[in-house]
Amino acid sequence: MTDMQSNKEAALAAIAAASDLDVLEARRVEALGKKGWVSALLKTLGQMSPEERNEKAPAIQATRGEIADAIAARKAELEAAELEARLATETLDLTLPAPETPRGSVHPVSQVMDELAEIFADMGFSVATGPEVEDDWYNFTALNMPESHPARAMHDTFYFPDTAPKGGKMLLRTHTSPVQIRTMMAEGAPLRIIAPGRVYRSDSDATHTPMFHQVEGLVIDKGIHLGHLKWTLETFLKAFFEKDDIVLRLRPSYFPFTEPSVEVDVGFEIVDGKRVLGGSGDAPGHAWMELLGSGMVNRRVIEFAGLDPDEWQGFAWGLGVDRLAMLKYGMDDLRAFFDGDARWLAHYGFSGHEQPTLSGGVGARS
Ligand code: DAH
Repeated sequence: MTDMQSNKEAALAAIAAASDLDVLEARRVEALGKKGWVSALLKTLGQMSPEERNEKAPAIQATRGEIADAIAARKAELEAAELEARLATETLDLTLPAPETPRGSVHPVSQVMDELAEIFADMGFSVATGPEVEDDWYNFTALNMPESHPARAMHDTFYFPDTAPKGGKMLLRTHTSPVQIRTMMAEGAPLRIIAPGRVYRSDSDATHTPMFHQVEGLVIDKGIHLGHLKWTLETFLKAFFEKDDIVLRLRPSYFPFTEPSVEVDVGFEIVDGKRVLGGSGDAPGHAWMELLGSGMVNRRVIEFAGLDPDEWQGFAWGLGVDRLAMLKYGMDDLRAFFDGDARWLAHYGFSGHEQPTLSGGVGARS
């Protein structure tokens, strides 16, 4: 018992003197570890008679408790001291300037495409896509432009040397119209889609870039006529330009993939040197501007896409997205769209946090 008493006093002193957590752990193992002296004392209880055990057990248990408590208390002290020391060495200099905020912005072309998707979604259209590296058959043949067709020459096509799976050469799509064919073949009818995307033509000046953007529209259903086309485009343009007096004029035209084909003009006037859409082009001070090509989908195209033209009719249109952005947001040089100039983007770009919504106003400038 006196042994235990002196062992205990020595252990408590050593625990109090432990200078770090490693030393403290060594003291714990010496006393309470499997081979520690307190554990050895506890083991002796098993060999004692019940009377002897009753007599000695409380003191041994109390010693074990005292040592365990002392270890826990010293551990808390050492940990607190360690934290203090760390806080003293780590400093946070609040006078440092804040890091520069990232300055990305949404390109006006992306913005306009989002606006288009928002407006047409409200009219029951979904967004369809197709490859930019396209097969001659989808880009031309299935759109009623066979190999010898003169309209092909107008497209200034970039060809690849590779032979296309469906004949002819692979090419960079010259318009978004092949998405019409792909979607009709994949999804059948009825159908309401827009297909925005990049298109390519070997052409370059102030108003033409070798890559530009179009949005294709296609409606396939029963009993569709030109009136549906006019209403759809008018409703879209009113929402897009947030103006009620948008006036359209349909002019007979020719595209191989539509019959009849119409060119759609929109009335405008010049305000402060810029074209502002609105009013009839025949009104005083106004004029007509050609905006897009469209028409009733040619029976041959519906057939090429595997549908029965006696059952399904439709209309389609193709519209330049870059031009639409220029008209709405007032840029005058198309080439600047693709220069990647940070100042231009900072000026004409949009906040990524503001998705266009019909309720919020698709034209809201951030
Ligand atoms: N694909 C034509 C072009 O790039 C535009 C076009 C005209 C698309 C009439 C159409 C359409 O869908 O019906 O010049």
